[in-house]
This record gives sequence, structure tokens and C-alpha cells, in this order.
Amino acid sequence: MPPPTDLAARLARHGQEHLLRFWDELDAEARARLAAEVASLDLVRLDALINDLVHREEPSTATTGPVRPIEVVRLPRTDAERAARRRAAERGASMLAAGEVAVVIVAGGMGTRLGFEGPKGTYPIGPVSAASLFQIHAEKVAALGRRHGRPLPLYVMTSPDNHAETVAFFDRHDRFGLERVRFFTQGRMPAVDRATGKILLAEKCSPAQSPDGHGGTLRALSAPSAGGGPSCLDEMRAEGVRTLFYFQVDNPLVRIADPVFLGLHRAANADMSFKVIEKLFPEERLGVVVVEVGAPKVIEYSDLPAALAERREPEGGLELWAGSIAVHILEREFVEKLLTNLSLPYHRAIKKVPYIDDQGELVVPAEPNAVKFEQFIFDALPMARSWSIVETDRAKEFEPLKNATGPDSPATVRQRMSDLYAGWLERAGAQVPRRADGTVPFGVEISPLFALDPDELRSKIKPGVEINAPVYLR
Ligand code: UTP
Repeated sequence: MPPPTDLAARLARHGQEHLLRFWDELDAEARARLAAEVASLDLVRLDALINDLVHREEPSTATTGPVRPIEVVRLPRTDAERAARRRAAERGASMLAAGEVAVVIVAGGMGTRLGFEGPKGTYPIGPVSAASLFQIHAEKVAALGRRHGRPLPLYVMTSPDNHAETVAFFDRHDRFGLERVRFFTQGRMPAVDRATGKILLAEKCSPAQSPDGHGGTLRALSAPSAGGGPSCLDEMRAEGVRTLFYFQVDNPLVRIADPVFLGLHRAANADMSFKVIEKLFPEERLGVVVVEVGAPKVIEYSDLPAALAERREPEGGLELWAGSIAVHILEREFVEKLLTNLSLPYHRAIKKVPYIDDQGELVVPAEPNAVKFEQFIFDALPMARSWSIVETDRAKEFEPLKNATGPDSPATVRQRMSDLYAGWLERAGAQVPRRADGTVPFGVEISPLFALDPDELRSKIKPGVEINAPVYLR
């Protein structure tokens, strides 16, 4: 039986008729699957993206005008600045106590560089406990709810590929005792051949698709639940949530719903806020927050021309130093406005994507062969009416798990966690040995349920206590 004529005609109009090449070989179930997957593709949008991001040499996301540094709330150096942060913390705490804040973790990525079997959030990262990233985040959310007398709702974004496994993981752990967890799934985009723009086949009955980037969070938040119930945004609105705290699953040091950050965001009447750290060197792989032709924006490290990255202040520091750590606050109403009036641009990612060739054989490419299309959450910034950009200390808040070895790997993340918690213990009066380079020689870990910050720890530790072996306080 030939393919349905409307299906074939639609694909032919967009130059993608090769997706039906193996139709004759497929059984009824595989044909139904292929027809359904093709029907879900937005081929008109895809045509435009292929035109812009595959057939054109230059990515359309490069800089378009004069770029200058953005104003940042710097780390406090004076008493007055410290007092301002304390006031911000009080304001943030009252937002949490009033139930105005929801927490959003994005965990839909493929985690290809880490190469771990399973969703990255399930990776056992705790240096002593081997607690998963999800457990560490969930315990912070639970501890915050306890502290502020109001459970915080947690929203976890998954992808179609890791959704079932993520939900099963939370279920196996009784949702880490959280009262309010909701999972929502992001969308997918097809991967196309880099040279021709043709959609790749992952199987004879299935186009190659992958998650549509962390910018897909916004659309996913507005999608009805699987059973047709209210979207996450509808639920938030109904429950009086005004503000979303957003972060990525791979950073166990993140200070979730940091009251100082929340308070500074609210005081600035901001639509969207960013935490930034000082970039260490021009090539460091962090997007920088800048002002371009009067509007705030983030330039991805891969799009930042070397001449700009290397520009220096008279005192020698990098001029564009404000590196984004992908920790954001977004007003719910701003997200709703973005969804009705505007849309985030797509970026191209050039990747290795296995595919079925014309002969029906699986090819695993040695070199990047495909273009994927992704939206990035930080592209919402230029559309904000107001914003706040807040500096934080890298050692205290940022060490993402990206790679299997080398930088940003399990070894570096566990070391940084141990160093951080050892610092908390020392501030509480404990003694912890340090190597010559300042790092601790064994695992030190504190469950967020034991202490959420150094002040809380101080009330629980006897000054003078000596720590001589791996320790997990919980
Ligand atoms: P990365 O861009 O670092 O990707 O995502 P990744 O999936 O973790 O790893 P690689 O690049 O495949 O090795 C940063 C964060 O954004 C989330 C990821 O789960 C991670 O928390 N993300 C990324 C999504 O939720 N969806 C996406 O489509 C992409």
C-alpha cells in the first residue's frame, strides 16, 4: 500500500519526502507511528530555520551593534552594601512565606557529554552520600518550605526521552518527601543533515528528534497536562504564584530561591533576573550578559567574537565579565506575555546524530553531521521591561556537572561540594584539614535538611570539633 497521498504531498511540498522511503517495508504499526510523528512536525517553521541556520554560513545570533557591559549588583564590599543585601533577603523571605514563588528545574537535556545511563538528575553526585542531583535539589526545596512555613511547589521539566524514568525515580524515593511536585515535558525538534537540510531518520519509521532547548521551558509551562488539565502556568496563577525561580539540574551548588536574589529582583520590579559570576579568562565557556544597542542580552560563548571577549578595562579586568550561570528569576506574567506576543529565536547546534542511510543501514558518524535547533531561555532577556543582574561567588554557587572527566566532571563537582561544606563547618568553629592548595582531602557533605546555609549550621555544631574523616551531616 502506498503512503497516504496527503502525507506524501505535504512532505514533498517541504522537500522532505525521503522520510517515506522505507514505507513499503513497514508493518501497520510502524506506518502509523511514522504518520503520527510526521504529522506532529511543524514543517513551515522548519523550512525557515533550515534556510536561516543550515543554508546560511553565519548564525543569525551573532552581535548586531555596539556592545557594552551591563550594570550589575556587585558582591557587597561595604557595610551599606551588606545592609542592602540583608534588606533584600527580608523581602525575599516574605515572598517565600506568602507562597508567591515556584521552583522550576530544567532537566530535559540529553546529557551527552556526561555519557551517563539515565537522566542526569539521577546521577549520584553527593561526595559522601552519593545522593542524586534531584535529591539534593529536592532537599533544598523541602528545607526552604520548612524554614518559611510554606511548602514551595516544584516543577520539573523532562523531555519525551527521559520523562518516564524521571518520574519513576522520584516515585521510588517517595518524591523525597515533597508535598508538591509536578513534572512537565518539553517539546522536540527534528535534526537535519548539515549539508542538505533533510530531516534525518533515527529509525525507518521515526524522524530523528531531540529536545528543543531549555528555552522550550516557556512553551512547555503553558501546555495542558497530559490528561488535558490545567497547564503549569494556569495552576501557578490559580495558586497565587507570581515568581518563578529557574535553574538547571546539573549544578548542585545552586542556592535555590535565594531570598537575596528574590528580593533584589522584586525591588527592581524586574521581569527577569540573572545571577552572574566574574569570568576568569576571555575564552571561558560562559555566556556573557551585556547591553547591545541599548537592550540587555546574553551572548553565548560560541557567538562572542574574540575581539570583544578580550576587551579589558583600564585596570586590567575583562570588560564583558558578567558570565551567566543559568540561574534566573522570571515573573509569571512576563512568561505569559512572551507566550502570547513573542517567541524566542532558535539557535543551531552542530552535533553527531546517528541516522539510517538510503540503504537502510544505521550510520554512527565520527564527525558532526547534523544541525539541531534549540531555544535558549536567556533570549527572553531583551524582551524584559526591567531586569536585575546580580553577582555571586562562583565557589559558593556554581559547579555544573557536564563532562565524564576533566573540568565540570564528577570529580571536580564533588571536590567543590566538599570544599564549600568544609568552609561552612570552619565558619561554625570546626577544624577541617586542608591541602596546600586549600582543598579538603576527603569528602565533606551536609544535607540541606540538616543545614541550608552556614548560619543554620552554626546553631548545630560544637565549636572546636575536629573533622578528620569523610563526614555526611544529615
Ligand atoms: P546543556 O546545554 O548543558 O545540555 O543543558 P545537557 O543535556 O545537560 O548536556 P549535553 O550538552 O548533552 O552534554 C543545560 C541544562 O539545560 C537542560 C539540561 O537538562 C541541563 O539542566 N536542558 C537542556 C533542557 O532541560 N532541555 C534541553 O533541551 C536542553
